Amino acid sequence: MNTIDIIIKKRDKLPLNENEIKHIITGAVNGSIPDYQLSSFLMAAFINGLNEEETFFLTKSMLYSGEIIDFKDIEKTTVDKHSTGGVADTTTLILSPAVSSLGASVMKMSGRGLGFSGGTADKLSAIPGFDTEIDVDKAKEYIKNIDIALVSQSSNLAPADKILYALRDVTGTVESIPLIASSIVSKKIATGADAIVFDVKCGNGAFMKDVESARELSKMLISLCTKFGKKSASVISSMNQPLGNFIGNSLEVIEAIETLKGKTENDLYHLSSMLGAAMLYCIEKASSLEEGKKQFDEVISNGKALEKLSALIKNQNGNAEIINDYSLLPSSKYSTVFYSTESGYLSHYDTDKIGMASVETGAGRKEKSDIIDLGAGIIIHKRIGDYVEKGDKLFDVYSSDKNKLENAVSILSASFKLSDTKPPEDKLILDIILP
Ligand code: URA
Repeated sequence: MNTIDIIIKKRDKLPLNENEIKHIITGAVNGSIPDYQLSSFLMAAFINGLNEEETFFLTKSMLYSGEIIDFKDIEKTTVDKHSTGGVADTTTLILSPAVSSLGASVMKMSGRGLGFSGGTADKLSAIPGFDTEIDVDKAKEYIKNIDIALVSQSSNLAPADKILYALRDVTGTVESIPLIASSIVSKKIATGADAIVFDVKCGNGAFMKDVESARELSKMLISLCTKFGKKSASVISSMNQPLGNFIGNSLEVIEAIETLKGKTENDLYHLSSMLGAAMLYCIEKASSLEEGKKQFDEVISNGKALEKLSALIKNQNGNAEIINDYSLLPSSKYSTVFYSTESGYLSHYDTDKIGMASVETGAGRKEKSDIIDLGAGIIIHKRIGDYVEKGDKLFDVYSSDKNKLENAVSILSASFKLSDTKPPEDKLILDIILP
């Protein structure tokens, strides 16, 4: 089969068959197709799109390019959650112990963060001793014993996606619905969960800028999962402002624990509860989302979700004392407070900029090889719609590097708008698509 013919076919808007797509993926993994041809294929697919069948073939080829885990031998129905990536999005640390304390088996493989979407594996590394580098057999043992394992993603899951994603990142071909859907679903199916709930972010801090595209992506994710025999659902949520108020690794662990202690009823809590409800619904532990939410709220108020977090931390060799003593978490050397110089309603956040500012503090990576400053980050004091008085605190900023602290403050100063009139509410949950 000739690679050029396949590229030309896609360039000319003709649909590709399974063998042609398989040829591209096999060539990407074994190195027989050079990056310039892969990039050209990706651009043709980006511009001309891939139909449903082509997207399925692409997902399948990427899935079979590596290891596929299955949990059949431990006879547990496992459920996973995947977010398309946002700022201050620490729902995993809240909903995983919560739904696990309700009898769901949660097996979550997470990546390290790159750019402003923090990776769960990085957040967990803020907990002293917590070991995410666990092999599949050990993870299965954990699921058998305590119904939860949060581990780093094995490097051999869907290796074709890693190759293609690295090229998409530098060729302007990331924001394509079929390419995003096949990338996400190939990895998720490879991790072996029986059911998957997607949190599709929508807004100025997300790939999907409007609800119509978020809906289109959601439908494609669900339809692909169905084709692989997996139950799934999608919650479309706003990323027009950071989800929680704490951004950074230690900081997000603290906010997750405060939420599990029942101390906050904010957007982070409400979205965690809805995603948790959808997870319970997908594995038939709740007959409706309302019932799932009720169960979720109960394990927050009776402390069972927090107990489960403690069990999870101990099981993976972490220091569970952090739950009652946040000073045991890594912290940064320097901090500063950003005060408002004007009054008005907070009408707009440029969420991308806030994410970039957090990366600048050292809380995230610009390059894969960067070492994270686990204590660095930002605390946000106002939400969209809040009234801000001149002199009110807007942000606390933390970093172990003074220059980085100053750079982050300068980015933050251009990340929000105040207005004389109260802006419309920024709705958190924009749609829910059930199987
Ligand atoms: N997340 C992924 O895993 N893949 C994409 O293409 C985009 C977001």
